[in-house]
Amino acid sequence: MDKKLIDESKKYLMNTYNRVPILLRKGRGMHVWSADGKEYLDFVGGIAVNCLGHCHPKVVIALQKQAQRLLHVSNLYHIEQQINLARLLIENSCADKAFFCNSGAEAIEGAIKLARKYARDHSPEDRYEIISAHGSFHGRTYAALSATGQEKIQKGFEPLVPGFIHVPFNDSEAVRKAVTERSCAVLLEPIQGEGGIRVPSEDYFMKVREICDEHKLLLILDEIQTGMGRTGKLFAYEHFSIEPDIITLAKGLGGGVAIGALLAKDAVASSFQHGTHASTFGGNPLACAGAVATIETLLEDGFILDSCRRSGKYFFSKLEKLKKDFPSSIIDVRGLGLMLGLELTMAGGPVVEACAKRGLLINCTSGNVLRFTPPLIIVEKEIDRLIDVLEDIFERQPQ
Ligand SMILES: Cc1ncc(COP(=O)(O)O)c(C=O)c1O
Repeated sequence: MDKKLIDESKKYLMNTYNRVPILLRKGRGMHVWSADGKEYLDFVGGIAVNCLGHCHPKVVIALQKQAQRLLHVSNLYHIEQQINLARLLIENSCADKAFFCNSGAEAIEGAIKLARKYARDHSPEDRYEIISAHGSFHGRTYAALSATGQEKIQKGFEPLVPGFIHVPFNDSEAVRKAVTERSCAVLLEPIQGEGGIRVPSEDYFMKVREICDEHKLLLILDEIQTGMGRTGKLFAYEHFSIEPDIITLAKGLGGGVAIGALLAKDAVASSFQHGTHASTFGGNPLACAGAVATIETLLEDGFILDSCRRSGKYFFSKLEKLKKDFPSSIIDVRGLGLMLGLELTMAGGPVVEACAKRGLLINCTSGNVLRFTPPLIIVEKEIDRLIDVLEDIFERQPQ
């Protein structure tokens, strides 16, 4: 049954993903079950999407209720759930206005358009250049791909959208040197995710913010992976004592339902007017009902964010201990909250496979960085189980 469906997956779907040969059928909290009944502990969480765990009852009930009432009407009309979601995001962030779309890449496209439109509305010069970072990842659509600082992802799709300048991450002087009379914005992830879980130094964003203010550039933070509590705060910018002008969100925002968002300060958001930007499905009642239930649950009593910070610290310390015990297998431990990476001296693929065989789903990014983005509800004994298995795997490696 499993095997037949997996064969059909290869027959009928484009070959864009290198999938683990597992077909998942059911999920609950930290656990998922494959079609053949095997249980897994999930440290991937749909790549930083399932922040409340799989099928959180509050999200499921909100979706069920909404599905019975109204699925789609379009943005020709006011949508109650969209207004509720915007209010929640605005009341809990430094932004003033929201625009909803359906994915991360679409949020990035919107941010790029908004930054360029703002520059054209406010500057007599032609300012359109956007400075982003080497190793960044912003999505697979054309402008997002062009903003992404990884040649391997861009290769074969040229010509790219012009006007993107890439500089080393965590180097504010490189940002300063890249500013020209054509610059309009700086686009950065607070912590690089796909680029290998790279956390910048504490003062990096303060310095970048200063450069932006000095040269009248917008600071766009791509919080698609870091947002919605992943780092122990609702938004990762809160760790760096700065406020961005534009924030992009997706992944965890819907707790498993496809939704993206663009948040901006009033002065910036006002460059989008009737007809300048739109999305048929963006902010539909179903996705917004799921997102409202997700954020309300995430913020309830601060319990989940507290727990994320605590589990994140515990997880980090266990990974540090692993690094100490297996110095010839592990190069580095990085991350914040429950967005953690373990850089290996070898390819991560075989470790991912070995973990899957032992009932643990983990992921590898950048070839040799094991990435852990579990649901924020993870508990210590689940972390211990992964550490025991990793220990066993590294013990078998020559040290
Ligand atoms: C930081 C960041 N930006 C943008 C994206 C693109 O999001 P999506 O896959 O929803 O288009 C991702 C996806 O991994 C991401 O991590």
